Amino acid sequence: MSSSPSRPTVVLGVTGSIAAYKALDLVSRLRRKDIAVIAVMTRSARELVGPASFESLSGNPVAVDLFPRSKPQQIEHIALADAADALAIVPATANIIGKAACGIADDLLSTVIMAATAPVVCAPAMNVNMWNSAAVQLNVKILAARGWTMVGPAEGRLACGTDGRGRLAPVEEIEAAILKALGWSDDLAGVPVLVTAGRTEEPVDPVRFLSNRSSGRMGYALARAAALRGAKVTLVTGPADVPAPAVGTTVRVRTAEQMLAAVTQHLPHHRALIMAAAVADYRPKNAAARKIKKSGTATALELAENPDILKYASVHKKAGTVLVGFALETDDLVANATKKMKAKGLDLVVANGASALGSDDNDAILIRKGGKPLRCGRQSKRDLARTVLDEVVKLVARPR
Ligand code: C5P
Repeated sequence: MSSSPSRPTVVLGVTGSIAAYKALDLVSRLRRKDIAVIAVMTRSARELVGPASFESLSGNPVAVDLFPRSKPQQIEHIALADAADALAIVPATANIIGKAACGIADDLLSTVIMAATAPVVCAPAMNVNMWNSAAVQLNVKILAARGWTMVGPAEGRLACGTDGRGRLAPVEEIEAAILKALGWSDDLAGVPVLVTAGRTEEPVDPVRFLSNRSSGRMGYALARAAALRGAKVTLVTGPADVPAPAVGTTVRVRTAEQMLAAVTQHLPHHRALIMAAAVADYRPKNAAARKIKKSGTATALELAENPDILKYASVHKKAGTVLVGFALETDDLVANATKKMKAKGLDLVVANGASALGSDDNDAILIRKGGKPLRCGRQSKRDLARTVLDEVVKLVARPR
């Protein structure tokens, strides 16, 4: 797949409706926005439109095989599912809608659909009686309830010569739904944003360390969401459980002191700092040069306090630099997070309980300087990242 890493990627499933050729226009539109497109065509779609057209417009090979001989080392459907920032099925036949609703995975596209966690946009196109059939109507309801965005179909003259609902929705409507699903916009175009993520590891000796259960998911979702809005992202990351997203520049660190050094170096060139990393508050005062041996008696570890990176940033930042922090609190969430906002001189605090640790979801409250707390409710970290960035956009737009 030849997409440059920081560009968003749409995996486009094309199925065997006569409207398949209209998906070519969609590819051109997305490419004009520098969005990478990888087309997955079903067998019947390939009867209607040649893969070469999709290949030349997208600049990527069209995926058709579950087990491509040319890539024996990779599992094609998982690689495609993982590459997708959004999955679009344009046009979607009654068949693919039925397979997705029932959990059938018997070819590449249906298997990618099952393996993908990205948001799905589905644009059905079929004969009016097929669309109105009880089976399709039920399947569409099932998929909408799973969070799929259904676009169309529209009314009008159909390929079979009849009139009614079943035409592919206008391509610009489908494009708008895909951009929304991606979280794509240009409201942070060119704005340098520094994001920290992951946890820190504080060495006890050469083989042991003190750390915490942060997975890195929230910070990575923020870095990705900022990049999708056009920000020039620098990601400073400690160890994490999931792979770092490919954004502008990634700086890898291990300890809080290394993270402080990286933030200090990069902050002057950035308009905002989003400090999502779970920084250890303490480190072993003297890390042993050799592995500490069992002595047969109880022992104690002396701890030194780590630098508070956000506090440091709020004292040393250039005027107008936006500072966003996180507050993980087990009690009095709003009161404690508000205190933290004042103490650390922050513009915004994302307050959450411990249940967010290691999870794909978060139930956060945004504490806004001079504004009312915003209760986000339980939502995916991807969606929360977008809400946080909506606030960052407003803060960045303020006069300095
Ligand atoms: O004070 P507390 O550790 O709860 O504050 C959490 C916020 O402060 C997070 O945004 C975290 O990234 C940041 N932090 C920091 N330096 C530390 C500890 C936490 O910047 N040493």
